[in-house]
Amino acid sequence: MVDYGIKDKVALITGASGDGLGRADALALAACGVKIAVMDIKESPETVELITRNGGIAKDYVADISKTEQVNAAVLQIEKDLGPVTILVNNASILTTVGMFGDIPAEKFNRDVEVNTIGTTNVTRACWKYMQAAKWGRIVMMSSIAGTYGGLGQSSYATTKASVIGLAKTLALEGARSNITANVIAPGVIQSQMAMTALRGDMLERMKKATAMRRFGELREIADTVTFLCSEKSSYITGQVLHVDGGLGLFVF
Ligand SMILES: NC(=O)c1ccc[n+]([C@@H]2O[C@H](COP(=O)([O-])OP(=O)(O)OC[C@H]3O[C@@H](n4cnc5c(N)ncnc54)[C@H](O)[C@@H]3O)[C@@H](O)[C@H]2O)c1
Repeated sequence: MVDYGIKDKVALITGASGDGLGRADALALAACGVKIAVMDIKESPETVELITRNGGIAKDYVADISKTEQVNAAVLQIEKDLGPVTILVNNASILTTVGMFGDIPAEKFNRDVEVNTIGTTNVTRACWKYMQAAKWGRIVMMSSIAGTYGGLGQSSYATTKASVIGLAKTLALEGARSNITANVIAPGVIQSQMAMTALRGDMLERMKKATAMRRFGELREIADTVTFLCSEKSSYITGQVLHVDGGLGLFVF
């Protein structure tokens, strides 16, 4: 069995209430013996149950990540309940605003920035001090191919997904000499309920054809990447953007 070297550390995974990527990440890290805190705008009882049923440790914290006070209070509570967070998976985000740039009302665009960019920053800031104190930390940002290539009709989402790359690269620089790594995953189309309902059937078909492997990704394939980037096994990797997309960015013909 592979020892990932992170047993008994405390990980915070945001956006793990449903059956999407956040839950898959939480289960995968729990399987490495990591204590899991999940934070979502909704309660996450099933995620906690799935982990504790298998002998793991998990607790649920409800917070809107765009609200600084809610995030700070939750992270403080995590410290009391489980210990200081030194592994952070910034997974929560919204993709609710779709339309051509000129048609998107400013309030809707700004709400995406509030959740995806400012929310991610709120959570990271609340955990950063613990990583600095521990002289060890792992930060994974969940970006998207929309953040690296742009996304037609997804200007606000793409803007926010690009913004977390800048934050991760800067934290990689600022954390480097304290053994804190910060990396970004840019998934292609992964078979979460969110992706399968947010994208129209004809769009999904076109995206599958543009993917070298001619299939969508499985939740496990992102969770395995998250586990690696959160572990001791990736100790010399920082400031990177890793596309996990089945070759969607390659010259497919
Ligand atoms: N599924 C894909 O194909 C795909 C592709 C590229 C990137 N991603 C990224 O992966 C991540 C997870 O995607 P998913 O498909 O599992 O989506 P999802 O919608 O199932 O998960 C997002 C979670 O974030 C939570 N959330 C939303 N707003 C919040 C807020 N204000 N505060 C706290 N929690 C909030 C939701 O409740 C939900 O549980 C997202 O960051 C997404 O952008 C997914």
